[in-house]
Amino acid sequence: MRALAINGSHRKGKNTAKMLRMVLDELGKGGVQTELLELADMHVEYCNACNHCLRKTECTIEDDDVRMIAGKMMEAQAIILGSPVYFGNVTGRLKAFMDRTRWMHMAENLLEGKLGASLTLAGLRNGGQEMTQLILERFLQHHGLRVIEARDPGAGVYNLGPMGTLFGSLDGEAIRWNRGIMEDALTVRMCRTLGQNLLKHLGAMPVVD
Ligand SMILES: Cc1cc2nc3c(=O)[nH]c(=O)nc-3n(C[C@H](O)[C@H](O)[C@H](O)COP(=O)(O)O)c2cc1C
Repeated sequence: MRALAINGSHRKGKNTAKMLRMVLDELGKGGVQTELLELADMHVEYCNACNHCLRKTECTIEDDDVRMIAGKMMEAQAIILGSPVYFGNVTGRLKAFMDRTRWMHMAENLLEGKLGASLTLAGLRNGGQEMTQLILERFLQHHGLRVIEARDPGAGVYNLGPMGTLFGSLDGEAIRWNRGIMEDALTVRMCRTLGQNLLKHLGAMPVVD
């Protein structure tokens, strides 16, 4: 079993990457092979809207890293997307990549049946995490993935999805910011729960090589 995490942050190894790592760590504990792919390391051209993919399962842009990333997505049984919130949305970097996957779901739905999950992180406490999470989930659903939630019914912690913040607390008139996402205990918990939930659902999936 393989799980692929794709980080849409411009900043490698920072908060979004740490959240994805926590999800992958839980999967790794269950013997799943994991990989974190940093889009910031990748060369991804914009979709040029040639519409070739309406008829053929192909993309006419071949001289960048999308084909390689698509290969990794095809090999994985679970795909986890992570994005910081930029103006209430995913980063432009991730959106450019999302558009370039159109060929994988027009003539055929190549990713159908895989497990999908997403996580977000914003500077503010209410900075657009929920909107961004919905955008990512909608993308995964477009591709035919089964979206796995971070809920843990019965555990006493009720929250939707790993949606982190760098807001710490209100200290008089001033905000005290977290130094990083690891100080956001609820988000740490939600990332781990998401990894455990993915593991549970992967365990129930048939292995197809
Ligand atoms: C261009 C830009 C737009 C942003 N827009 C928002 C926003 O709408 N809401 C918010 O709470 N934070 C916003 N932020 C802050 C980021 O979400 C925050 O810095 C996040 O921690 C970045 O994740 P990273 O550590 O993985 O890079 C924005 C940051 C940038 C650079």
